[in-house]
Amino acid sequence: MNRSLRTHEVGVDHERVDGWAKVTGTGPYAYEQPVSQPSYLHPVQSTVARGRVTEVDARAATALSGVLTVLTPFNAPRLQHGHDAELEVLQSDEVWFRGQIVAAVVAETPEVARQAADLVRVQYRTSPHDVILSVDRDDLYKPESVNPNHPTDSLAGDPDAAFDDAARAVEATYTTAMTHNNPLEPHTTVAVWHGDDATATLTVYDSTQGVHTIGEAIATMFGLTPDRVRVVAPYVGGGFGSKGRPHPHEILTVLAAQRLKGRPVKFAVTRQQMFSFVGYRTPTIQRMRLAADVDGRLTGISNDIVELTARYKEFAEQTGIPTRTMYAATNRRTTHRLAALDVPVPSWMRAPGECPGMFAPEVAMDELAEACGVDPIELRIRNEPETDPDTGKPYSSRNFVACLREGARRFGWADRPPLARSRRDGDWWVGTGVAGSTYPVLRRPGASAASVRYDGDGRYVVSIGAADLGTGAWTALTQIAADALTVPFSDIDMRIGDTGLPPATVAGGSSGTTNWGSAIVAAARRFREKYGDDPDAGDEYTAAATDDGHTERFAMHAYGAQFAEVLVNVDTGEIRVPRLLGVFAIGRVINPRTARSQLVGGMTMGLSMALHEKSVLDERFGFVVNHDLAEYHIPTCADVPSVEAHWITEHDPYVNPMGSKGIGEIGIVGTAAAIANAVHHATGVRVREVPITNDAVL
Ligand code: MOS
Repeated sequence: MNRSLRTHEVGVDHERVDGWAKVTGTGPYAYEQPVSQPSYLHPVQSTVARGRVTEVDARAATALSGVLTVLTPFNAPRLQHGHDAELEVLQSDEVWFRGQIVAAVVAETPEVARQAADLVRVQYRTSPHDVILSVDRDDLYKPESVNPNHPTDSLAGDPDAAFDDAARAVEATYTTAMTHNNPLEPHTTVAVWHGDDATATLTVYDSTQGVHTIGEAIATMFGLTPDRVRVVAPYVGGGFGSKGRPHPHEILTVLAAQRLKGRPVKFAVTRQQMFSFVGYRTPTIQRMRLAADVDGRLTGISNDIVELTARYKEFAEQTGIPTRTMYAATNRRTTHRLAALDVPVPSWMRAPGECPGMFAPEVAMDELAEACGVDPIELRIRNEPETDPDTGKPYSSRNFVACLREGARRFGWADRPPLARSRRDGDWWVGTGVAGSTYPVLRRPGASAASVRYDGDGRYVVSIGAADLGTGAWTALTQIAADALTVPFSDIDMRIGDTGLPPATVAGGSSGTTNWGSAIVAAARRFREKYGDDPDAGDEYTAAATDDGHTERFAMHAYGAQFAEVLVNVDTGEIRVPRLLGVFAIGRVINPRTARSQLVGGMTMGLSMALHEKSVLDERFGFVVNHDLAEYHIPTCADVPSVEAHWITEHDPYVNPMGSKGIGEIGIVGTAAAIANAVHHATGVRVREVPITNDAVL
């Protein structure tokens, strides 16, 4: 067992330590970092989806007053090759997707850069492109592994035989849409080179979920030792995974600054450009089979998944993971197959894998409940596993059933009519639905370190290169540090977001608090062991968390139960969601205020997946046509009148010293299925595709 943290500040709903700076505009985001004599970059994007650049005519652009340079595939400085094809910006004439960066202008002002970029004439030799995802393609292939390193397929027993012998069965295809991360703050990078070539060092202000991740990528691509690259990101306006990995804009900005020798370069990616080169969620096609006895006890479960990737780089979303682990069934199969298309490479978007991968099974379970005449909550309880079906390991804690029961009580599930299409209120069909949520506890002990320094006068400086992308991590870490040092919250000066601080893992996979908090607790304990409770000013200790072996021994997951009430207009099919309610089992909650915000935000994004978000890929041209917030729909406040997030009391002594599980992503998992199930309950129409549009229910 971890020596658990004694809590005084953990559990208190402290205001965000960065809240004041953010809302008053005094906390500098990457683009606002003051640098001397900045220049501004604007990219030129490919207007064809496949082919080669044959000529770039920059004469009109360079003639414009204020233009400093035009970078092209033919004149850009060379990068290291073979590490990451996505980052090899302007290194070849090859066009892999429409919207790819094929040139860039740097100018004295952003306006001149943009105008000049419009004047750059690019000639292409065009090849036919192919962007159509379909299960019928004969070139679907099996990737080596799925994100981040899971086995591609899984098989236990004989799920097809179980299906053939089943007393009750469900077989259907479910699809989820291509969607794009749209954090409030678009991606921005500011690059400053210092000194001349041989000994030059680099400072990068970046909107990122991981300064060390970005710093290492830049160092690799430019052939620098990591100590020559400093990445700074104290304030970040959201990311949802799109800022968790490096993308071409960061490399391009550094490349431009290298070219300009000493002149800092700023690049603010526009909202429209975000639809081309910072990642998105792959669409998925999931062929799901459930086999059960007459009482709804699963005997088999399988999910055969088809999704897309890019030709120039592979990203294989781990959509089958929830089917592997959520419910007990002797016979189980998952497969992932990919189509490599002429599109940008997909990447992480809030709960990659679990989010699309819980839509199909959780709607299928609703269908099975109907087929068996069993309440959907009772059906799930009947299929609760003793140990993790995927690994056979015992759970560190599993309180899914508690979430279902607590949610049913709070939501008022008992009053629900069992049959679909049985409640009408004026012009509206009324229905309710439920679905499960799950998200793993991802741990990398030893990969993050923290330092504790006593500054005198009761002040402790605690440092770690973590990122707060708007989650509240900065505040939660301050609370953890206070308890680890047994001092009040106000005595801690928490420093994050700089590669000059001890190394930290990326703010991804809902793992930040686990990994960084464990490092802070380790460092604080060593500090106290060495210096006691009465240290001298300047005393300092840096440490990483050690591996307690619990990852090997236990299956560790957070769980949740999501409930939705929907209204469906009898004439127009318009769908409204007057009420969402989630109950989660997420270990100890470090800060109820910021935790609730994470869960409510996730659920709202799940509603968005259910009813609004879809990137419309025009097959003729190979690009997303609704590439701005006017046409890419996300919910407004009027779309989400009531979203309630609750959690049960859960003690898990194995996950980390705080007893906390990740909360950034679980809120979006299962929400869309709960809404789809409620739509069925309202109307009797089973929709297996999100987003659900009006025509689907008429
Ligand atoms: Mo999250 S998609 O792992 O940043």
